[in-house]
Amino acid sequence: MSGKLNLMQKVANLYNMCGIVGYIGEENSLPILINGLKALEYRGYDSAGIAIFSNNKVKVRKSVGEVKILENDLKDQTSLVGHLGIGHTRWATHGAPSVINAHPHSDCTRRIFVVHNGIIENYKELKKYLQNRGHSFLSNTDTEIVSHLIEDFLREKKDFKTALFDALKMIKGAYAFAIIDSKNPDTLYAVRLSSPLVIGVGKHENFLASDPSALIGKTKDVIYLKDGEIGEITKGGVSITNLRKQKTPSEIVRLEWDLEQAQKGNYPHFMLKEIFEGAEVVLYALRGRLRSKENLVKLGGLEQVAEKLKETKRLLILACGTSYYAGLVGEYLFEEISKIPTEVHFASEFRYREEPFEKKTVAIAISQSGETADTLAAIRKAKKNGILTLGIVNTVGSTIARETEAGVYNHAGPEIGVASTKAFLSQLTVLTLMAVYLSKSNGKSSNHALLYELERIPEKIRTILSKASEVEKLAEKYKNCDNFLFLGRRYNYPVALEGALKLKEISYIHAEGYGAGEMKHGPIAMICEKLPTMAIVPQNSISEKMFSNLEEIKARKGPIFAIATEGDEGIEMLADNVFFIPKTIEPLEPFLTVIPLQLFAYYIGTKRGFNVDKPRNLAKSVTVE
Ligand code: M6R
Repeated sequence: MSGKLNLMQKVANLYNMCGIVGYIGEENSLPILINGLKALEYRGYDSAGIAIFSNNKVKVRKSVGEVKILENDLKDQTSLVGHLGIGHTRWATHGAPSVINAHPHSDCTRRIFVVHNGIIENYKELKKYLQNRGHSFLSNTDTEIVSHLIEDFLREKKDFKTALFDALKMIKGAYAFAIIDSKNPDTLYAVRLSSPLVIGVGKHENFLASDPSALIGKTKDVIYLKDGEIGEITKGGVSITNLRKQKTPSEIVRLEWDLEQAQKGNYPHFMLKEIFEGAEVVLYALRGRLRSKENLVKLGGLEQVAEKLKETKRLLILACGTSYYAGLVGEYLFEEISKIPTEVHFASEFRYREEPFEKKTVAIAISQSGETADTLAAIRKAKKNGILTLGIVNTVGSTIARETEAGVYNHAGPEIGVASTKAFLSQLTVLTLMAVYLSKSNGKSSNHALLYELERIPEKIRTILSKASEVEKLAEKYKNCDNFLFLGRRYNYPVALEGALKLKEISYIHAEGYGAGEMKHGPIAMICEKLPTMAIVPQNSISEKMFSNLEEIKARKGPIFAIATEGDEGIEMLADNVFFIPKTIEPLEPFLTVIPLQLFAYYIGTKRGFNVDKPRNLAKSVTVE
């Protein structure tokens, strides 16, 4: 390793915020690249660039700032037409955000053009080595060494592919590359190691992207490159080899996402649109899987491991962020409904634990993106220890979906807003179905009431959404608060954690989620007029206890905003503000209680003037540790 990474490098390495697009085919690549880059804008970036093979040479254009600046700069360039191109949105790591440091980068002869996501850890040594061999560099980036390294091997009269393989052998780190060799304009090269890259398969054209959302509207057929694979993409086909130069089979996966789902429509932000898709995503996740009259749950994705699942003695749920909180709800569901002891772990912690793995344990990874590095590492560890691994994943064909032995897709469609909202609801749906499925394996005969009510959840979500303006008014009242406490118990304890996470990431307000029963063990010391509490207190088996907690807050003059069940008059005596939700059964309450919290975070964030779709320092998928 070449010394320590600085803070900016670490942050970008951690979140892998850059975006890659590529095109080869019969169309002009420029508008395809620009639209692809726009679709990746949500990842966060500071500059953008493209390289297009046009009139027998590669032309590069870059700009600092938004993709639309680059697009405007290119408006009059009618000669910039070509059937092969690559594009990139950069989030600065090595070198400041500038036109020089923006990708694509090239070699001394301007033959090879590269865009890159990830970090090349040994770039300093490689740069020195290449400088000693006469290469001169234009930028401060780690990426530029890639083009020079390939050039260096080409000087040894090697063919391009051999030079590329030899260069890859010298590079250490995490990367996804899209590469053009201007002497071979019929091929677009794609390389992946620990940073996602997906090939979109079209008719007489193929696409490349770091995230399948950039391909929506172009093709639904995709090939996910695996770690250590190199794709040679022509307009007529795709050939994949591994780093040992062996051909590897490629599987085409069908994405079910459509263009409308990936556009904002009439909504000002993706986040709001996705919150408003709450009822639909529950329906999508239930479709074809639930027949309540017959008391039947069918999960095709688990059929192949059905026999093994019957023997499950313990469940381990591994996930991060919002998916982790969905997992905590899952813990209650699996224990209450399936009667299986369940533990939920932050995947980032689990990967470094000394876990005494027991036979008949099943590990479940939950991930919207299917690419979260920590969750992937955790599931790989479980697998290595002989544990059956299942996935609850939204992105079809993603790495976690592929690497788990079986699983259930959420079918929530693309989630573009960085803050996860609709994915949470679809995860709850799949977890509920799975809990029922496993309860049957465990011999329980009926969950009729639960399944009946589950079918009614979408309608109840719609009722809540129709009152969004009430939440907006309350957001106006609370928007200038510096701190917030979120309290809930049992199924609503994870919802309190999720509500606090949403507020933190979208509004940058310090918020803590707590189990209300724990309040007396510490947080009660903070209660005062300046600390509002968001209390999740629907009428259920534990609401009396929640009421006692709220009395304690009231006695200390703490403002209370309560989420409560319609018709509960008592709560109005206690709370300063109340948002009422329809009645449901306790295991399904999180479906309803989380919606006002998502809306609350959204409205406070927008009222404070923040870009809620792209919160600062965050990226949609955290693909590198
Ligand atoms: O794609 P995943 O579900 O694996 O992502 C996990 C977390 O990174 C994600 O939920 C993150 O916490 C979101 N920003 C939450 O809104």
